[in-house]
Amino acid sequence: MFIDCSEKELFVFKKIANAAAELQMPAFVIGGFVRDKIIGRPTKDADIVCLGDGILLANQVAARFNPRPQVAFFKNFGTAQIKLGEFEVEFVGARKESYRSDSRNPEVEPGTIKDDQDRRDFTINALAISLNKENYGDLIDPFNGINDIKAKIIRTPLAPVQTFSDDPLRMMRAIRFASQLGFSIEEATFQAIKDNKERITIVSQERITDELNKIMLSNKPSVGWELLFTSGLLSIIFPQMVDLAGAEYIDGKGHKDNFYHTLQVLDNISAHTSDLWLRWAAVLHDIAKPVTKRFEEGHGWTFHGHEVVGARMVPKIFNKLKLPLNEKMRFVQKLVELHLRPISLTKENITDSAIRRLIFDAGDDIDALMMLCSADITSKNKFKVKRYLANFELVKKRIEEVEELDKIRNWQPPVTGEIIMETFGLTPGRNVGLIKDAIREAILDGIISNSYQEAYNYMLKKGEELNLKPVA
Ligand code: CTP
Repeated sequence: MFIDCSEKELFVFKKIANAAAELQMPAFVIGGFVRDKIIGRPTKDADIVCLGDGILLANQVAARFNPRPQVAFFKNFGTAQIKLGEFEVEFVGARKESYRSDSRNPEVEPGTIKDDQDRRDFTINALAISLNKENYGDLIDPFNGINDIKAKIIRTPLAPVQTFSDDPLRMMRAIRFASQLGFSIEEATFQAIKDNKERITIVSQERITDELNKIMLSNKPSVGWELLFTSGLLSIIFPQMVDLAGAEYIDGKGHKDNFYHTLQVLDNISAHTSDLWLRWAAVLHDIAKPVTKRFEEGHGWTFHGHEVVGARMVPKIFNKLKLPLNEKMRFVQKLVELHLRPISLTKENITDSAIRRLIFDAGDDIDALMMLCSADITSKNKFKVKRYLANFELVKKRIEEVEELDKIRNWQPPVTGEIIMETFGLTPGRNVGLIKDAIREAILDGIISNSYQEAYNYMLKKGEELNLKPVA
């Protein structure tokens, strides 16, 4: 075999080869599996292309296993899938696209392996391995994809305009592979993305966002975002992000380029976490800077309230991008809203009460918030960054100390609404809420400790102020 496979994979390929030989139907492993094996990335599914009926081949292969695996097939597409434990194998007949004179839409008809390779997106994804007797295990690589893998280049097999007009999502895929694999996009291919960017509008948002999320999960997501920006795709799929770019100057005073700052924060956080939503929080933390930007005489640029306005923008952006409108979104929203709070605590003379309030507001997301804030410390001046980070470490320590003592992180009222109602013979209503709030505020302000006894006594005191009498 030209590629290095596990014993299990080799075993499965042998079975496919035997079934294909029996049907006299040439078969090949193709696409991402071959690419990833050559690069040395983990693989979990393989695509098989055969010169014939893919569903028939899949059934013949399944019959060779005991117990016989289920064959899931889609008659319209002529594809079939078998799951062999963790290893998923998909079968399809080789196809060729031809243009009829009476129609502008391509007709898909059976083709050769070369026809099938022609209609794939990139040279690195068009590599095939033969499963046929005469050249079993050989690489079939008409576009020299192997060289492009070595040179780390993304390039279309045919003229890029044709490849991208067949499926405009491929423009996003090119950028996603560049970001995931650390490859660069060949010049003519990248130019074609710039020239055809508007065509992305015919692709469904779900497919676009799938690619965006893959870019987000790559080791250095800024690579993908920057390519989206320079290609012009970003202004179509996510204009608010483009609004962050650039710096304005008045009276010689400028502000930083918030697009590149955001990408820096994203890369910083990505070095510490693979959590997709924490990474989205990094992308969105300053999203409202353009709409809140003001120039104040004698002071310079300000972005007052950008964290609150930004948090309000999150649901709209999630909705547009078809990201989930659930607790993941609320997590991102919360982090955007709170992202300035820990930094504001690096000043001197910060009270325990301010620390307690931050822990209370962030709750279980305090660690994620601290990670975002430390990623947010960017400056060209290394000494500044070092000093800020050192101050920030002190805040972290204070948070740990205060939390150790007061247990605010998963705070539950030590005196419940039921106890308040029983004590004063109340039914649910305003007074119960007032007492509950007063107890919480007193704990956060450090007037009483976070304990049942002190909270109980405080409740009695508050009740008295409200002219309530404990029932006997
Ligand atoms: N393909 C294509 N054009 C597309 C999508 C896919 O030509 N728009 C081809 C490529 O040859 C690709 C193969 O179909 O290698 C399988 O596609 P897919 O599973 O989406 O991608 P992979 O390349 O396997 O990569 P990943 O699993 O990382 O998405």
